[in-house]
Amino acid sequence: MASSLQTTASFHFFSSSSAAPRSLPATPSLLSFSSSLKSLAFSPLSSHFSRHQRGSAVNVSTSGGLGSVAIPKCAASYTDQLKGAREDIRELLKSKYCHPILVRLGWHDAGTYNKKVKEWPQRSGANGSLRFEAELKYKSNTGLVDALKLIQPIKDKYPDLTYADLFQLASATAIEEAGGPKIPMKYGRLDASSPDHCPEEGRLPAAGASSPADHMRKVFSRMGFNDKEIVVLSGAHTLGRARPERSSWGKPETKYTKNGPGAPGGQSWTVQWLKFDNSYFKEIKAKRDEDLLVLPTDAALFEDPSFKVYAEKYAEDQETFFKDFAEAHAKLSNLGAKFDPPEGIVLDAAP
Ligand code: HEM
Repeated sequence: MASSLQTTASFHFFSSSSAAPRSLPATPSLLSFSSSLKSLAFSPLSSHFSRHQRGSAVNVSTSGGLGSVAIPKCAASYTDQLKGAREDIRELLKSKYCHPILVRLGWHDAGTYNKKVKEWPQRSGANGSLRFEAELKYKSNTGLVDALKLIQPIKDKYPDLTYADLFQLASATAIEEAGGPKIPMKYGRLDASSPDHCPEEGRLPAAGASSPADHMRKVFSRMGFNDKEIVVLSGAHTLGRARPERSSWGKPETKYTKNGPGAPGGQSWTVQWLKFDNSYFKEIKAKRDEDLLVLPTDAALFEDPSFKVYAEKYAEDQETFFKDFAEAHAKLSNLGAKFDPPEGIVLDAAP
């Protein structure tokens, strides 16, 4: 793991005073730094209107698979860059089958939110701080550096996009492309600009807590979620796998994972772990297949009387699962975020 964090990157960007991002000095500045992923500190946006006006020449040269790219000044509007990035994420998904890890990336950036803290970005949440090595190296984030590497070329291509937006865009797009619901997303999140803004370790739920239901309530209520939202969001485990070398959970491989698609191995919660449907609830209720994973926190959804009401409903009724999931996931994607413009940017008109 440590070695995978050694990805080096050189960033040089010039920002003009007229459009200097808020977190940078207002005077013209030439910033140049070379370091590990902790320096992926592309800054927040100046304003809705100046996003596409900012003079920026980014020269990224990286080792560790990200390639070497010289990026010209990007003239496209922020909305157009979001749409372009969404297309590129769709292509990435088709070739890499990385839907699950992109969903996890978005969740782990947003899920650090503390509703009791008012100040941004100290309240944490969807502010892109997960791009910093300080946060990526937390045990709960093991493996997510691979997700960052996958989307870094898209960030390089659309340099004005914030990491905070890109993480949530990638997650929502992955869910939709896997057959899940369309999530009512908005964009314009600002990025935390320094690793000093990373939350302390231990904000995300632990699968092996001694009282899983109590633990989930404690952690998710800090984010502002109720029982129904805890259950429905857990349904994201309809996608993906656990890998012992990452989380210490799951089997090294099963009959459902040994041939991929994508990197083989791990243990999935569902048979078709790249398809977003309600099979997670059916499987963890039935516990019928040793090749499928049930974490203690998954099992609690059918053991705790309050959680069970929702879990039973979602096992029976995919439409309700999709509707409630879309709503809760939009809320998750917005946790702690600061939007510019304040009302956010919506890419698609409501259906
Ligand atoms: C209820 C508390 C939760 C716990 C204890 C938990 C725990 C875990 C663990 C241990 C893994 C395996 C990681 C690995 O080995 O790579 C995992 C994977 C995953 N989690 Fe969760 N999780 C929770 C909630 C969520 C939520 C709310 C979401 C999204 C909304 C989510 C999305 C995912 C996805 C998509 C994967 C698969 C990642 C992959 O295949 O690379 N999880 N989770």
